[in-house]
Amino acid sequence: MKYQKFSNGDQMPIIGLGTWKSAPGEVYEVIREAIRLGYRHFDCAHIYGNEKEIGQALKDAMTNGDVKRKELWITSKLWNDSHLLDDVVPALETTLKNLQLDYLDLYLVHWPLAVKKGVNFAKSAEDYLTPEQAPLIDTWTGMEECFDEELTRHIGVSNCNIKTLTMLMREGTLPPEVNQVELHPYLPQIGLYDFCKEMDIFLTAYSPLGSGDRNQKAENEPLLLRDEAVAEISQKHGCTPAQTLLAWAVMRDTSVIPKSTNPERLKENLAAVDIQLDRDDLRKLSMLRKFRFINGNIFTQNGSPYKLTDLWDY
Ligand code: A2P
Repeated sequence: MKYQKFSNGDQMPIIGLGTWKSAPGEVYEVIREAIRLGYRHFDCAHIYGNEKEIGQALKDAMTNGDVKRKELWITSKLWNDSHLLDDVVPALETTLKNLQLDYLDLYLVHWPLAVKKGVNFAKSAEDYLTPEQAPLIDTWTGMEECFDEELTRHIGVSNCNIKTLTMLMREGTLPPEVNQVELHPYLPQIGLYDFCKEMDIFLTAYSPLGSGDRNQKAENEPLLLRDEAVAEISQKHGCTPAQTLLAWAVMRDTSVIPKSTNPERLKENLAAVDIQLDRDDLRKLSMLRKFRFINGNIFTQNGSPYKLTDLWDY
């Protein structure tokens, strides 16, 4: 395995398991199997609604002697309804209780926008908190408290652009150590990638396979896993399209969290760490069409005070 190495010596395995869209009811077995196959990095979030089952699987795996806590890297994320300063530590405490853990390895602010307590996805303007009502820097102060109280070993963000990262670095006490964003050959985010490299912020790539199993897809969405150039490169290396896409992420030194609930594909995805793409492959992959699968629209509708231009670097 390769790792992203943090300044305190901690190491995040470069390929982790995404748990978004892994239903409660199936995720327990998936986690147990993933641990048996060698996965040590698990990417979770409160809003995925499956942390209790994941926690039970982690606990049973540890009790069974399959793995020790210190060998695991567990990430989770603060939901948008807990952005007010006094809500951040309690939200992490809930996640820790659900996951049956004493600490996380990494806690991320899931999105740089806020809704009222108890709201999952806003249905009207009243459901939102404006940036003035819930300044992101206050949320970040709450994240710093999580770190100070040793509830998490690292703190970071998700879905943040250069402007937001710059603000947090300027106004915060601790810099974000990780930014988790959508990354794949259709969305390489070169500007953000270069910025994060320069600022020593690790990137984690979500939806690396194009998240074909999610609801609410745009019409005529391209199929990343069926891309012709990806197929050609895969044939050349004797690997699968998914492995080519994951190898692309690993070669850029970003961590990557493909989701699967299928044992064969779990195995296949972890094995991608050993595939070496060459310059010609990387050049071909850099020329593909550009497309963002998770466009953030659900957060900018229904009277939202947030705009897509606040979210993304265009
Ligand atoms: P499944 O869970 O049945 O394996 P993303 O990580 O971009 O969100 O993509 C997840 C989607 O990709 C799921 O539909 C998942 O299906 C599928 N998937 C995961 N690994 C592979 C693979 N190796 N080959 C093909 N599809 C895969």
